[in-house]
Amino acid sequence: MHLVRKVQTELTFWLRIMKEHAFFLELGIPATRESMAEQAGEFVLIFDELLTRAQRVQNHQQAQALIQDAKAATAALLNFKREILNLIIQCQMPSSLYALLVDHIAREAARLLMLLEEWEHDYPQDLLQKTLSEEEFWSRIMTDHAKFIEHLLDPSQRTLIADAQRWSLSFDNLYRQAEDYHSMLQANPESFLAVNSFTDELIENAQGIATFKRAGRDALLSCKALATTIPLLMDHVMREAEHFHGELTVLRQRLEVENKPLLPPENPLPPNTPPFS
Ligand SMILES: [Fe+2]
Ligand SMILES: [Fe+2]
Repeated sequence: MHLVRKVQTELTFWLRIMKEHAFFLELGIPATRESMAEQAGEFVLIFDELLTRAQRVQNHQQAQALIQDAKAATAALLNFKREILNLIIQCQMPSSLYALLVDHIAREAARLLMLLEEWEHDYPQDLLQKTLSEEEFWSRIMTDHAKFIEHLLDPSQRTLIADAQRWSLSFDNLYRQAEDYHSMLQANPESFLAVNSFTDELIENAQGIATFKRAGRDALLSCKALATTIPLLMDHVMREAEHFHGELTVLRQRLEVENKPLLPPENPLPPNTPPFS
């Protein structure tokens, strides 16, 4: 994809995500840490400005300049997230922020930094590597989301909690499978057809969890469900699921063309095997 187009679409998606992370942190940092909450508020403004710029980028030069600024801001936000995570895991800052949530949003910032680096240098990428790296990253993100939803819903919301638990388990398994396949790539196969069908399975699940999150968001918005979180968080994780779904769809089309069987499979049955009934 052309760099300008990439900035207008993908970077816009990510900058909004970063801005909202800063906002969630601002909400979750306890009142005793006033300057930290202010710092989070400053990050909201910084990413809001970058977001406006991304929507207006028109040429390659502007895109490159924005990538540089986005890199600096994302690296600073990543440090800030890890600073908060350190305080939480060292029991120095009692708050309503889950450690796993802060770790999760730190991983997302690290992912954006990696992508910015790739876009800047236009690194060539192996399709199977790219696919499995996306699938591994995002299926872990999806299982985390299901766990956050499960733990942010009011304990009375038994049906929704059970649904969230099912998604959590499904994506735990899909994440492990993505890890397994990613590890197998070290054998350097020219063709790996199981990745195509695995991608189909992920597409279906990404669609399913996005629908679940949309329903959850709407239920919170219309006050039909009880939770200790705000609808924006559900909307945020829904957008991430939709983004994952969109990435998978593009990758799946490329796999169809580029990841084909090399030779007919060797007959796995020994000679003289009786025919199947
Ligand atoms: Fe996020
Ligand atoms: Fe997320």
